[in-house]
Formats: sequence, structure tokens, C-alpha cells
Amino acid sequence: MDKSEKKKYAIKVKNLYKIYMIGTNKVRALNGVDFAIEKGTFCCIVGTSGSGKSTLLNMMAGLEPPTKGEIVIAGEHMERKNEAQLVNFRQAHVGFIFQSYNLLPNMTAIENIALPLTFQGMDKAKRIKKAKKALKLVGLQEFGNHRPGQMSGGQQQRVGIARALVVNPEIIFADEPTGNLDSNTTLDVLKLIKKIVAENKQTVVMVTHDNNLASYGDMIIHIKDGKITEIEQNRQVNDDLDNVELGGTLDIPSEASGEAAVSPSMEAATIPAEPEMASGQNITVPEYEGYHPKTSGTDPGNA
Ligand SMILES: Nc1ncnc2c1ncn2[C@@H]1O[C@H](COP(=O)(O)OP(=O)(O)OP(=O)(O)O)[C@@H](O)[C@H]1O
Ligand SMILES: [Mg+2]
Repeated sequence: MDKSEKKKYAIKVKNLYKIYMIGTNKVRALNGVDFAIEKGTFCCIVGTSGSGKSTLLNMMAGLEPPTKGEIVIAGEHMERKNEAQLVNFRQAHVGFIFQSYNLLPNMTAIENIALPLTFQGMDKAKRIKKAKKALKLVGLQEFGNHRPGQMSGGQQQRVGIARALVVNPEIIFADEPTGNLDSNTTLDVLKLIKKIVAENKQTVVMVTHDNNLASYGDMIIHIKDGKITEIEQNRQVNDDLDNVELGGTLDIPSEASGEAAVSPSMEAATIPAEPEMASGQNITVPEYEGYHPKTSGTDPGNA
């Protein structure tokens, strides 16, 4: 892509295929997918179970190679990188929020949040300082010394969000981040993600099977049987998020905040009704560092 395109788009996906072989059977998890996400967008990928959402997310995040096609992030082709280059790329540009939080049970909230910074070789005092700032951002400054088992699901997910934000990533990938939360907490967490990334001009790609939740997105990609059936542009002009209470902002380099493109104004969208959500099933705390997408379900992991 040329320079102005690189400035405008956070992610471009071209002619993307993922075909799994099950014996002699071909499963077309992604069957020719094209789209571009502008910087500063809260993009939701929505579809029923098995439609290809996680496959698409994992491929964008460089966790799985495509069978065919291109993924361009920050001007760089993900499909051309080797494993070591992908690890470096993710550490520099990408944050993840998991459905099952993936916090380490023996670490405090602060230590969990600081963990991705250790991979950057940052010294401990600086890590703790940044982690505290991120914790404040999600409104949990009182919970810094709590372990995951001493917090509610919603609080744990806020810690998960803080951990994703602490490296100040340009892009945040989230696969069903509210899947284990009740409906009120789901909305709180969603608004929190949306507000923080809007303030910091970050790009979020969130997978959900829930159309109500997806309608919070500025851009909604509908996927069915590995194909996009519809892309809605839905940037909300007056989106009711000003009332979410937050504790501050992270340090954002001026370059990142300066160049984020904002889409042309779309028709004002209405705020959707509160979605119905099942609550509290399936809360597990898998290993964070030992995570591998091929063997550990559909949550992507920081390598
Ligand atoms: N490793 C794999 N090997 C074979 N088939 C796979 C593999 N991973 C996914 N698939 C298949 O690809 C299709 C898309 O799967 P994917 O996990 O992307 O769906 P999803 O939309 O995330 O579903 P859910 O909402 O249930 O998480 C499904 O038919 C699935 O069975
Ligand atoms: Mg999935």
C-alpha cells in the first residue's frame, strides 16, 4: 500500500483463505475475505459459531498462517513474516484481550499487568509504574495487590484490558472478551474498551457472536461460512460513552495520537438495547506464557 494508505488504515485484508484438511475433507474456515479497517476504529466481527471469526482474528494477529491471501498491518505483510518476526511484531504493535482473562493466578493484578513489559526488557520500577497507571485507567487502583481469585469476573477482565493496554499497542484484538460476563458487566467492559481506545486513537478488532454487542462497533463485519456477507459503517456521533468513569490516560506517543484517521461522519446511530447474556460459565485461568492457539482453543495469545 502507498504512504497515504498506510497512514489511513490499521489493517488491510486481501483475498484471504484458510483451508483446514480433516482427513480428505476440506474445511473452508475463511473463503476469500477482503476488507480494510481505518485507524481509530472499533471494529466488530460478528457471526454464528463456526463462521470463521476466531480464524480471521488469529490470522490478523499473526497467530496462524493463512492458506492464501494478504494481511497488512502497520504497512507490514503478516503472511511474509517468520515466527520470530511475528513474535517481535506482536510485542511491538498488538494487545490481546481474552474471553477467559488468562491472568496468572499466583500474580497480583499489578504483576499480571506488568508482565508484557518484561518481554520488552523494561526495568522493574518502570514496569510497576506503568502497570499502576493502566490499573487506574480501568478504575481498579484499589485492587493492585489482589490476585485473580480475589476479584470478580468483571474486575479480572478489567485487569486483562489493562494488561493489553500497558504496552500501548496500536491494535487490540479481543475474541469474545465479554463471553464470561453478565449483561451489565458486559456493557461496562465494552464501554470501557471503547472509551479508552477512542481517547488514545487505537484500533480494536473484537469478535462476538452477539449482534447487539456488535452494534457498538464503528464498523461491523458480518461473517458466515468463512465469507463476509455485509460490512456496516456505524460510527456513532453521539454515543453515550462520556459518562463512563475513568481514572486517567496512558502516555501515548504524539505520533500515534496525531496520525489516527477518523472516518467521515456517518449517520448517527442509535444506542442498542441491553443485550441478553448468559453469565458466569467456563471461567478458567489458563497459562499465559505457555499458550498456543492451535492447542488451547480459540483465544489468541501473546507469544
Ligand atoms: N484447527 C482447526 N482444524 C480444523 N478445522 C478448524 C480448525 N479451527 C477451526 N476450524 C473450523 O473452521 C471453522 C471456523 O472456526 P472458527 O473457530 O474460526 O469459528 P468461530 O466463528 O470463531 O466460532 P465460535 O463462535 O464457536 O468460536 C469451523 O468450521 C471450525 O470447525
Ligand atoms: Mg471463536
